[in-house]
Amino acid sequence: MDKIIIQGGVPLKGEITISGAKNAALPLMAATLLTDAPLTLKNVPNLVDIRTLASLLEQHGTNIVRNISGQELILTTSSITSTTAPYELVRKMRASVLVLGALLARCGEAIVSLPGGCAIGTRPVDLHLKGLETMGAVIELENGYINARAPNGLQGAVIHFPYVSVGATENLLMAATLANGETTLTNAAKEPEVVDLAQCLKAMGANIEGIGTDRLVIQGVKSLQGATYSVLPDRIEAGTYMIAAAITGGDVLLKNCNSKQLETFIDALRKANVQVEEGDNSIRVACDLNLLKGVDVMTEPYPSFPTDLQAQLMALMTLASGASMITETIFENRFMHVPELCRMGANVTIHKSSALVRGTRQLIGAPVMATDLRASSSLVLAGLAAKGETTIHRVYHLDRGYEQLEQKLSNCGAIIRRAKEDEELAA
Ligand code: UD1
Repeated sequence: MDKIIIQGGVPLKGEITISGAKNAALPLMAATLLTDAPLTLKNVPNLVDIRTLASLLEQHGTNIVRNISGQELILTTSSITSTTAPYELVRKMRASVLVLGALLARCGEAIVSLPGGCAIGTRPVDLHLKGLETMGAVIELENGYINARAPNGLQGAVIHFPYVSVGATENLLMAATLANGETTLTNAAKEPEVVDLAQCLKAMGANIEGIGTDRLVIQGVKSLQGATYSVLPDRIEAGTYMIAAAITGGDVLLKNCNSKQLETFIDALRKANVQVEEGDNSIRVACDLNLLKGVDVMTEPYPSFPTDLQAQLMALMTLASGASMITETIFENRFMHVPELCRMGANVTIHKSSALVRGTRQLIGAPVMATDLRASSSLVLAGLAAKGETTIHRVYHLDRGYEQLEQKLSNCGAIIRRAKEDEELAA
């Protein structure tokens, strides 16, 4: 196991190129299960989560060819050799459940391990299952597995989500492309990653209306063809590096990113007195830390403030003048970075789903440990700003979602390196 060691206090200056979005690439890869023709995906980030899903797909019969940079994947699923997604692979990554809808639609059956809980909350998959049942699937839960069957194919249906779910929208959207008749999804997720999936499915021959709205209408087709599709830039990675620039009082140009997908986040940064310049395909961020002030935010489905940037914004707010109230409405246990930030000198108190952050002048480096991906990135950000040395343990969380994190930051002047964990901590 690795750890990351940062000597903080260097204002970041330079350029960072944003990678393709992990959360868009995962459902796009799962879409290979809907067709026997090759699906070529470009701008795929080289990350642990991508490799985990690739292993699962290979196990279902997908042949995957990577180009040398690893950023282009050609996925061909001529036939499905297994409809079972085993626990050993699904437990590594919750998004593995995305194979359920596609397998069921193509093969009439799927046996997928229940993903189980995760550090940021219980995260059930009831909406995925109820939606598939409304489309005629018979679903039983046996020995920790979802056993789903639709021997006569899935039937079009009207499905209303009681609350917005990115994963359930993606799973049912994929299932509906090959169902008999029309499916309507209402209160569907509008996240850019869902839009990316819908556009790729359209390129594969799916008939989908309402893309980018909360009402998707899908006319099922007999089969889908192959396509070549480029994954959209990672808005969460971009947001994380925007905060890296701000929290160090630096000046950084982000390339290959789309500011339109970060509007609410950019509004919050501007209210905090961070300078943000939006270019066509770039964002420039600069900050005078003496002017930084507290802002209140509440996480909500897109286009509101993203839960995946909550921990990072909190790191920035620990250094703002005044107070900031950060309210998390998507996940019930997503403040695990708080005690670690407090160990670095932050002043944060949690009241149910809100965290009250009182700004302090200086964070101090410390050994810290995080339990999920975005919490880990908030500790990296705090470490970049802190006086002295910060060691972040359990780096495998970061490797799930940030491609070349140390290289991208050190290119802008950060003093950051990776080292092997000693055995005592790894245990
Ligand atoms: C996706 C993202 C994740 C992001 C989240 C919210 C991927 C791979 N992951 O996760 O990074 O933080 O969207 O933007 O794209 N829920 C249920 N029952 C269900 C499904 C969801 O109760 O069947 C709940 C969840 O526990 C959570 C909320 O709904 O409280 C939203 O979850 P959802 O949008 O489904 O998140 P994911 O798709 O898992």
